[in-house]
Amino acid sequence: MPIPFRIFNQNNDKNALVLGIESSCDETAVAVVRGGTQILSNEIFSQASLHAKHRGVVPELAGRSHLERILPLVQQALQKAGIQGDDLDGIAVTNRPGLIGCLLVGLSVAKALALSYGVPFIGVDHIQAHIHASFLADPALQPPLVVLVASGGHTSLFFLEKKGEGVLLGKTRDDAAGEALDKAAAMIGLGYPGGPAIEEAARGGNPKALALPRGTLEKGSLDLSFSGLKTALLYHLRGPGIQRPFPKLSKQEQRDLAASFQEAVMDTLCKKLERAALLYPQAALSIGGGVAANTRLREKISESTILKGRKFAFPPLALCGDNGAMIAGLGHLLLSQGETSALDLEARARSQSR
Ligand code: KG4
Ligand code: ZN
Repeated sequence: MPIPFRIFNQNNDKNALVLGIESSCDETAVAVVRGGTQILSNEIFSQASLHAKHRGVVPELAGRSHLERILPLVQQALQKAGIQGDDLDGIAVTNRPGLIGCLLVGLSVAKALALSYGVPFIGVDHIQAHIHASFLADPALQPPLVVLVASGGHTSLFFLEKKGEGVLLGKTRDDAAGEALDKAAAMIGLGYPGGPAIEEAARGGNPKALALPRGTLEKGSLDLSFSGLKTALLYHLRGPGIQRPFPKLSKQEQRDLAASFQEAVMDTLCKKLERAALLYPQAALSIGGGVAANTRLREKISESTILKGRKFAFPPLALCGDNGAMIAGLGHLLLSQGETSALDLEARARSQSR
C-alpha cells in the first residue's frame, strides 16, 4: 500500500527536514536532521539502568520503556530543533534488525506521524545506519569506504562503493564484540553496560597481565570470533567444567583483567580492519557502533603501521552508539533517491546486511 502523500523534497533536498526514530534495542532515540547531515537535535533516552540488574536487555521491559518515552522524545527533538511537526519533509525509522517488540514501537509511531503530517516515511536498516554515521560526522567523506561496525548485537566489516549500500565482507561467527565485553565485565564484577566499565577499569590495569587468545580465525578470513576469548576468561576465573562461583577480585586484579580483555578485543578488531583495508587500498576507513566509542580501539587504529597514511573517519561518540541522527541521515539519502516505504512495512528481527 503506497503512501499517497506529498513527494519528498527532491528539488530542495539540501534543506529537507527528516525525523529519525530508533527503538531497536535499549535506547529510545529521536533526531531531526536537515539536508542529510546537519543535526538539529539528537535526543536519546538510555535504558541502561533499567537492564543493569539483569546484566542484559530484557525485551519485555525494553518495549514498555520505549512506549513510555517515545512520544515525549519526539516532542523534545522537534522543540530542540526549533521546528513544528508540520515542517517535516520525511520520517525515517529503524525497522530491522532488532527486538520485534521494540522495533514495533518506533515503527508504529513513525507510521502515525507520517500519516498525520502527510509526509513519506522510510524504514531503514540499523546496521547500514551505523555505517552511514561516518557521513554525518564528516560530510566531505566519500566512498570507497571500509567500515568496521562493532556493537552489542553485531560485529561486521563492510565495503561501500556507494553511500547507503554497504556490502558485507565478514562478520562474527559467534558473539558480537560488545556482547563479549558485557559478559566479561559481569565475570570480572564490573558494571553494565560492560564496554564503558571495562574501558574505565582498564585505565589502571596491565594489558599483559593475562595472555588471552585473539579470534582472528584462519589466514585471510574477514570473519571474527569472540567466544573463545570469553571462555578463556571464564576458565581463568573459575576453572573448566565444574560450576564454581566467581572469585572475589581485588580492584587491581579487576583492572588487570579489564585491560587484558579490552586489549584482546581491540587487537582483534584492529587486525581485521587492517586485513580488509589491504584489500581496498583506495578506500577511506571508518568505525561505527557502540564499541567504536572505545579509546583504545581508536588509538590502535591510529597507531597501526599497516594503516599509516590512510584516511580515517572516526564518528564522535554521540554518533557511535544507537542514535536517531544516523537513522535520519540514511533516511534522507534513501528518500532523496525516491525510495519510500509502504504503510504495511513490517519490523524484522534480522538484517540482510549483517
Ligand atoms: O551500538 P550500540 O549502542 O547498540 C547496539 O546496536 O548493540 O552498542 C552497545 C554496545 C554494548 O555492548 C556496550 O558495552 C558497547 O557497545 N560499548 C563500548 C563502549 N561504549 C559502549 N564498548 C567498548 N568501549 C566503550 N567505550
Ligand atoms: Zn546499534
